[in-house]
Amino acid sequence: MNTYKIAVIPGDGIGPEVIREGVKVLNAVAAMDGSFAFDFTEFPWGCDYYLETGRMMPEDGIEILQGFDAILLGAVGDPRVPDHVSLWDLLLTIRKHFDQYINLRPVKLLEGAPCPLKGMGPADIDMTFVRENSEGEYAGSGAWLFKGQPNEVVIQDGVFSRHGCERVIRYAFELARSEKKSLTSISKGNALNYSMVFWDEIFAEIAKEYPDVPTHSYLVDAASMFMIRDPKRFEIVVTSNLFGDILTDLGAAIAGGMGLAAGANLNPERKFPSMFEPIHGSAPDIAGQEISDPLATVWAVSQMLDFFGHPDWGKKLIDAIETVLKEGKTLTPDLGGNAKTPAVGDEIVRILKEM
Ligand code: IPM
Ligand code: MN
Repeated sequence: MNTYKIAVIPGDGIGPEVIREGVKVLNAVAAMDGSFAFDFTEFPWGCDYYLETGRMMPEDGIEILQGFDAILLGAVGDPRVPDHVSLWDLLLTIRKHFDQYINLRPVKLLEGAPCPLKGMGPADIDMTFVRENSEGEYAGSGAWLFKGQPNEVVIQDGVFSRHGCERVIRYAFELARSEKKSLTSISKGNALNYSMVFWDEIFAEIAKEYPDVPTHSYLVDAASMFMIRDPKRFEIVVTSNLFGDILTDLGAAIAGGMGLAAGANLNPERKFPSMFEPIHGSAPDIAGQEISDPLATVWAVSQMLDFFGHPDWGKKLIDAIETVLKEGKTLTPDLGGNAKTPAVGDEIVRILKEM
């Protein structure tokens, strides 16, 4: 029997509540399938750990995680710790050390999910964002000079390497080809005259290798307008780290809300573990009340099952989420219901068993 070793980092705020449901669903899937199992190891890293030890994770945290097949992350962030500390020392460290250069984020409106756009339905909103996840505007390169002086200067560089751009764009082309979809590149070459002109050139170069894939190229400002006015034109989308970050929150807003938004941080070569997470954050204002929505985490574990080579189960989980939404009986308050977090996980398991 194949046993997947999963490092579980529930993290802060609502992280532990939603992760419990993700683990519940994965265990149920393994029991139903019978040909694989999960071995979960939980790590208490995050902001509480930081307040006790002065670190978000132990010094050898990365070495510890290296031995796992995947990481399941809840959320990072707590009002008592500056965000740039908590995020850089845990989430971003893991993404960078494990070269998780693909951030795969579905923006797919399921039947039964709320959509704020007038007259739009599931047939109109079905995209997959491929966000560059290792460099770009989030490379962490820059300087803070003359701190506190009148001549204070800060510089935040955008780092775009040929290798980094090529690999993410090529990944997106492969995905578009395999799914027989169009690929849209989103950039900003008219204003960012180095980084984004370079990005556009590489996109055009690689497009020549994929004559079968229809392509579009948009400026990010226009793209954000089209995502609202005409989302149907986007299928597979590839973009830089910062633009992908912003546009996938916009995507979440038109595809059911943050309670349904998931992301996979992938190292496609599988040299390092990949990491799966709901992308809603720690929501400290509602933590501990068990009213957080675990559906984004269920979606993230569906991405994990896809990545492990069980797309049939990945699809079943999405179908189960859709069934919960359509039934409308077991939803958390963000989706207009009054169910508790564990009840939603139980409902997913019940639906899976009936499939
Ligand atoms: C996300 C988050 C992170 C990011 C933050 C918390 C650093 O917003 O995963 O989208 O921007 O990557
Ligand atoms: Mn974000």
